[in-house]
Amino acid sequence: MRPVRKAIFPVGGLGTRFLPATKAMPKEMLPVVDKPLIQYAVEEARAAGIEQFIFVTGRGKSAIEDHFDHSSELQATLLDRGKADLWESVRSITLEAGQVAYTRQPEPLGLGHAVWCARSLIGDEPFAVLLADDLILAERPCLKQMIDAHAEVGGSMLAVMDVPKEHTSRYGIVASPKLGGQIVEVSGLVEKPKTEEAPSTLAVIGRYILDPGVFDHLGAQQRGAGNEIQLTDAMAKLIGQSPFHGLRFEGERFDCGDKVGFIEANLAFALKRADLGPAVREILGKYTAG
Ligand code: UTP
Repeated sequence: MRPVRKAIFPVGGLGTRFLPATKAMPKEMLPVVDKPLIQYAVEEARAAGIEQFIFVTGRGKSAIEDHFDHSSELQATLLDRGKADLWESVRSITLEAGQVAYTRQPEPLGLGHAVWCARSLIGDEPFAVLLADDLILAERPCLKQMIDAHAEVGGSMLAVMDVPKEHTSRYGIVASPKLGGQIVEVSGLVEKPKTEEAPSTLAVIGRYILDPGVFDHLGAQQRGAGNEIQLTDAMAKLIGQSPFHGLRFEGERFDCGDKVGFIEANLAFALKRADLGPAVREILGKYTAG
């Protein structure tokens, strides 16, 4: 079984649901408490053993490159001021030389197109895709859970979770001959189906391990739901060609591409912090009393 060494972070989207905040700032740089969304995703990938970090960027996304770059002036100033903890928090973000690559999606034609833009950087090996706006609070990082499961079954693997039937039209939905258990064999995938047409209530969220054969299907540049080049459509074509599974991961997922999900993530992450939890709990009491 070939190991998963490379991860793609598609960050080329417009982030329209967060306008005007995202007019000049990438959605992926929105902070949950004090860390941008994209940093959580990179840390998750690192903790899962990923060695190569590939960002598919677009117009106005240079803040992401700066965020993961060495920052001599800031680091020197923090050291001068004796702020060792802050210095470490900044230093540890930097991705090592040769570990990181940025490629550009010229137009936001869809997630499938963004992934396809990284094809020559991936080559012929299985790879991970992480969407930063799906933030996952988990004891064992979600991607690590997936990589461990992938080591057993190979092929492609998606992070999946059960959702209420009325929410199925927001997600890619899995069809399976046997929907129970932690590792679910996938027999079909539908992107954002009408509720009455959803094949199950098992939804795909933004963590994928994919067989490189997906690039052949993405190369057809076929438009799908929302007139976008959908990753789901290309993945669906892999089914039957190589093993294809979903993993019911352990952890809580927050949809930070949505305002309510983003606010909930901020509360959940703040409440878990020893330095912030008590004060935030008190504030929440003030707003929810009566
Ligand atoms: P979304 O579907 O949330 O789209 O993309 P979006 O453009 O970021 O946000 P809204 O819906 O307009 O508010 C999920 C992920 O896929 C990336 C986004 O940057 C985000 O991380 N993406 C999406 C691309 O890289 N390119 C695309 O063409 C579309």
